[in-house]
Amino acid sequence: MITSRIPGFYKLSLEERRQVAAEALGIAPSELDAALAGGGLDPARADKTVENVIGTYALPLALGLNVKMNGRDYLAPMAVEEPSVVAAASAAARSVRDGGGFTAVADAPIMLAQIELDRVPDAHAAGRAIMAQERRLRALADASVPGLVSRGGGARHVEVRLLDGTAGAAWLVVHVHLDCRDAMGANLVNTVAEALGPELEALSGGRCGLRILSNLCDTRRVRALCRVPAAALAMEGRSGEEVRDGIVRASRFAERDPYRAATHNKGIMNGIDPVVIATGNDWRAVEAGAHAWAARGGHYAPLATWSVVNAETRDLSGVLASPAQFGWLQGRIELPLALGIVGGTLRVHEGAKAALALSGVASAQELAMLAASVGLASNLAALRALATVGIQRGHMALHARSVAIAAGAETDEVERVAARISELGAVTVEAAKAALTELRGEAAE
Ligand code: MEV
Repeated sequence: MITSRIPGFYKLSLEERRQVAAEALGIAPSELDAALAGGGLDPARADKTVENVIGTYALPLALGLNVKMNGRDYLAPMAVEEPSVVAAASAAARSVRDGGGFTAVADAPIMLAQIELDRVPDAHAAGRAIMAQERRLRALADASVPGLVSRGGGARHVEVRLLDGTAGAAWLVVHVHLDCRDAMGANLVNTVAEALGPELEALSGGRCGLRILSNLCDTRRVRALCRVPAAALAMEGRSGEEVRDGIVRASRFAERDPYRAATHNKGIMNGIDPVVIATGNDWRAVEAGAHAWAARGGHYAPLATWSVVNAETRDLSGVLASPAQFGWLQGRIELPLALGIVGGTLRVHEGAKAALALSGVASAQELAMLAASVGLASNLAALRALATVGIQRGHMALHARSVAIAAGAETDEVERVAARISELGAVTVEAAKAALTELRGEAAE
């Protein structure tokens, strides 16, 4: 049983951290070294993946720590370039542990294929004809993806939506709900959409237009929840209750104002995207789905909200909170999350394979629950900082490291130069160069 609680992990050298990761995977460090070499993607393979390749592009791959979800510990692989994201999510996940960790649930991995039909002479007749053939349409869909069917997936449901109807020329879209099991499913869904196009054209008497998946996969949603004792939120002379109330107020701000909601959600995606990227998933699809979901009510809304636990607070199963938790902070996130643990990038990217293995998830649904939990942790970290000391202090302390590296600092000089320029409140390359010169001068004496 792995633990994600590894005190002092950040103080280890990169090699030592890799050793811990290799141990968690049960492999030799040399195997992990090989998987992560060159950012995990061999240029020759990259050359076969997309067109006009001139190289590969690396990002830092880190481990988000302290994540406990549904009673189990997870190491969260995170590929991200922004300083403080991993540290902040890990710190927030540590507070969440004090309340028992995250609970999460995921819908069945159902994706939507859209088949557009225009110039339909009679929308109602077309709808009836299509639905009368639902079973045959599902069989046709299944026949186009036999591998998926053999893994337990396949078409589950057909629905017809009217987009616009003018006399003699209705515009319809047919949705086929496809259970993609552990695949993200884009190729499977597109295959099904194209396979059904001619049949739907014939049944509707219209003309088949686009045949493609929808990234608003609201049939494939994930929900995560956490409760944090107020005392675990106390910081720098502020009581836990004060911090909790600041977080709840920040949540209301995002609920009321789309300008704030966009930034609030960016803070959530700070946690989700790195897990999505590290595990070789399509982050553009995830982003498109998340923001379309956030705007579903015609008002762009936060993906996660925060409240104070009271007698009416329910968990994800609808169970009322116990009085012992009254006064705690509760966070809840919900969004569509189309992630896969087979196929796609995972076929070629050794780094993504290793990251996925490190996450320890056994299904696409479990990966979605993990990503949502890390998103909720990132949101908590950002709101806690924003509602108290502000975001810049933590950001600048970590940003100072990148600045030190840009100024030429190497190995242990990085921390020392970063500390010096943070202390001076001058996080600039010029200040870092001066600090580095001074440091090297002292070392030479
Ligand atoms: C920065 O990457 C993310 C934040 O702006 C999120 C937020 O404001 O909630 C700090």
